[in-house]
Amino acid sequence: MIYLDNNATTPLDPGAQEKMSHFLREHFGNPSSLYPIGRAVKEIVTETREVIAKAIGATRTEIIFTGSGTEADNFAIRGVLDAFPEKDEFITSEIEHPAVIETARYLEKKGIKVTYVPVDQYGTIDLGFLSNAITPKTALISIMHANNEIGTIQPIESVVKIAREKGVLVHTDAVQSFGKIDVDVKKLDVNLLSISSHKIYGPKGIGALYIRKGTNIKPLIYGGHQEREMRAGTENTIGIVGFGEAVRVLMERGSKDKKRIEKLAEQLKKGIEETIPKVKLNGHDKNRVKGTLSFCFPGLEAEAILLALATKEICVSTGSACAEGTEDVSYVLSAIGLKPEIARSTIRFSVGRFNTEEDIQIVLKELPEIVKNLREISALDIDE
Ligand SMILES: Cc1ncc(COP(=O)(O)O)c(C=O)c1O
Repeated sequence: MIYLDNNATTPLDPGAQEKMSHFLREHFGNPSSLYPIGRAVKEIVTETREVIAKAIGATRTEIIFTGSGTEADNFAIRGVLDAFPEKDEFITSEIEHPAVIETARYLEKKGIKVTYVPVDQYGTIDLGFLSNAITPKTALISIMHANNEIGTIQPIESVVKIAREKGVLVHTDAVQSFGKIDVDVKKLDVNLLSISSHKIYGPKGIGALYIRKGTNIKPLIYGGHQEREMRAGTENTIGIVGFGEAVRVLMERGSKDKKRIEKLAEQLKKGIEETIPKVKLNGHDKNRVKGTLSFCFPGLEAEAILLALATKEICVSTGSACAEGTEDVSYVLSAIGLKPEIARSTIRFSVGRFNTEEDIQIVLKELPEIVKNLREISALDIDE
């Protein structure tokens, strides 16, 4: 099988798997318990929190474990709006992940005014629009670091500069950037930042929210005293251990991995552009997470390509995993100005750590043939 859908999820790192198996065998204690078997687990959780904090330039007490990247996004947004009842405005972008967009829709139903900042043809937000949208009633701005469908990287430092001048807090969803490009909370200067384990070769169902010291935020989940009373519920200790090891491996491999992935993605990009007529890369050519390649294949339905590739055991996506199987055109592709029929012809390839040159060669052998055959039987006119 050739897996080129690493933005949807990644395979578990063997080191993380080993660490988790060992932990499961040796530790069942509750980290809140005061006797030794509880204490031992608490110590492991604390060490893991330190590893994750260090990886993003934070301190340990600024990291709260969550049940997913989605929960981290919900926590950041709803938690800050809850903390500022006198402010009832929220700003985000048109191309956020559903974890943010649907939270915004929920807030709208509760009477919050939400402004969705538009993007240009490359998927980059309009900073002027953003600046004009801020009012004294704005509680929070949430702009994603890198987009999951097209990979475009947003100018977060500029967003923060604009927000700071007007005293507004900034959250960024770094679920698709962490592990792929530099993510440093000090450099980005954000107040809140979300990450998720299963996008970086860790287990699913565990994420984290960075909350800069002193940030005014309310919990999303109430109950026990866990996570410094910011996220109640007995910790997902096995998930935390796996997440921590995945981050440790990530840091150890460093730029070596990044270069390899970028090289493979570039080979795939060049190969597609050279062998398949009329394809076009969606998003930004340069300012992009390079392992993400969103291509449209005019004249075809993406689903037909996806299914043909699947018969060759090649896994790709038609967009984000969350939109898969729905009839709707991707709102991200609509926001960058693609016509519905072009958006519907889009395939996302996302390259990861375990891909090889052979994977890319096989795709470049199969894909042009598949596209050619499908175009021959397709009724759509690619010159339209
Ligand atoms: C940009 C972005 N944000 C948030 C999420 C949600 O993360 P999780 O799957 O951990 O809930 C995803 C997952 O696809 C994502 O790509």
